[in-house]
Amino acid sequence: MTTPHPAAVIVLAAGEGTRMRSATPKVLHAIGGRTLLGHAIAAARGVGPKHLAVVVRHGRDHVAEHIALIDPDAVIVDQDDVKGTGRATECALDALPADLEGTVLVTYGDVPLLEAETLRGLLQAHLASASAVTVITATLPDPSGYGRILRAADGSVAGIVEQKDATDAQREITEVNSGLYAFDAAVLRRALAQVGTDNVQGEKYLTDVLGIARSEGLRVSAHLIADLWQTEGVNDRVQLARLGAELNRRIVEGWMRAGVTVVDPATTWIDVDVTLGRDVTIHQQTQIHGVSTIGNDVVLGPDTTLTDVSVGDGAAVIRTHGSLAVIGAGATVGPFSYLRPGTDLGAKGKIGTFVETKNAQIGAGSKVPHLTYVGDATIGEHSNIGASSVFVNYDGVNKTHTTIGSHCRTGSDNMFVAPVTVGDGAYTGAGTVVRKDVPPGALAINVAPQRNMLGWVHDKRAGTASAKAAAAAAAGADNEDSPIVPEGKPCA
Ligand code: UD1
Ligand code: CA
Repeated sequence: MTTPHPAAVIVLAAGEGTRMRSATPKVLHAIGGRTLLGHAIAAARGVGPKHLAVVVRHGRDHVAEHIALIDPDAVIVDQDDVKGTGRATECALDALPADLEGTVLVTYGDVPLLEAETLRGLLQAHLASASAVTVITATLPDPSGYGRILRAADGSVAGIVEQKDATDAQREITEVNSGLYAFDAAVLRRALAQVGTDNVQGEKYLTDVLGIARSEGLRVSAHLIADLWQTEGVNDRVQLARLGAELNRRIVEGWMRAGVTVVDPATTWIDVDVTLGRDVTIHQQTQIHGVSTIGNDVVLGPDTTLTDVSVGDGAAVIRTHGSLAVIGAGATVGPFSYLRPGTDLGAKGKIGTFVETKNAQIGAGSKVPHLTYVGDATIGEHSNIGASSVFVNYDGVNKTHTTIGSHCRTGSDNMFVAPVTVGDGAYTGAGTVVRKDVPPGALAINVAPQRNMLGWVHDKRAGTASAKAAAAAAAGADNEDSPIVPEGKPCA
């Protein structure tokens, strides 16, 4: 059976979140590379609502800006001075078309593990039972803080009572309100108009709608779910970390089931928007963030952090920190490499040990194996950059570009003082400071001829260990001039 789409999903996100003790609004804190609100919106979008409204108030401008960025079609609704989940929902209904009819789902902006699949289940159950209201409930070992589900003698839902308004007997109830609901739009609108603020918190409670619907003789149902994580909200940073770890556990498990080897799931972190190919192997302490895309047969880690990095099939990336970079198929990176934004390593290329790259296009088969900085550069194909070289891209004011051709062999300890170009097939000698363009096929050398000042240490550093070592070496050399004559055997 295909589930019909709801008329609207209303995401409540106006609450203050004081227990986060943060300058950042609670719903903008992130787990799995996505804000709490981003998770809530993704789940809401997953059921294909005609309208999606997000109710904001605390940190309003920051939250609104974020919504506009991640979901430009969402309706941003400002809650007024009247407090409570009921008022927030009412404000959203006012902002949606007046003739809205069908099912309205209400969710929270701070419940990040809720899945679209669960909302679909709620919608199905709601429609199948022809209910006016269906609420997702859960049975908790410790229900404190939550609204309790009141059941009538026949087992049907009679209403919800908030912890603060509950009697001692009601507080014994362990079935709680998750805060996730399906409502008939007309019933919701009508009932909210009747909800007052006569309660301990002086708020307009959305939960009162259930009792009102019930008193109108309408069916109110509970949809009990077993996966408690999906209804858990974030109130403080301890919960943020707890839910972040559980989200990650789910993501990592999902990838293992899809054909990825994860050597140590506990130290592997994968964001929600990452994609991984078949037979990827991830070693310990590896984090893959942002919208990274990892091809087939890639080996990542140990000790690797990639953010918004694309890795081609068969590449290996070991002990590396990279962001906004592209690693070609069959390339090798690391150990101890730092790939900064704009790094683009071609197929079968190499970025090796203690190499930092930035805004660097390194062509197919080209290698930068050791101890080198490549900034603002283009390197052609199948070139080799000698150990310990620096692409000198910054003159203190401007950044300029270096171009190295294909099939070049540059010597160790070179400085490429940009802007400069080394032509195809050219070589440079060790220690060259390349300030002028090198024509194709040329060998560039510019180091001064070596001069040995004999006896300098004896004269200028007399009495030092160096002077003694030099003297001993000289004596050894004298002995070599007069080899020891072996003794003969005496005549018998
Ligand atoms: C609410 C429910 C409670 C349920 C619990 C589940 C009511 C009256 N109570 O309680 O039965 O067990 O959620 O977590 O609904 N919000 C607004 N505007 C407001 C107040 C809240 O948008 O004026 C938003 C918050 O940002 C949050 C959500 O609604 O996302 C829930 O608010 P919260 O204050 O946490 O509700 P609880 O008192 O915990
Ligand atoms: Ca709450």
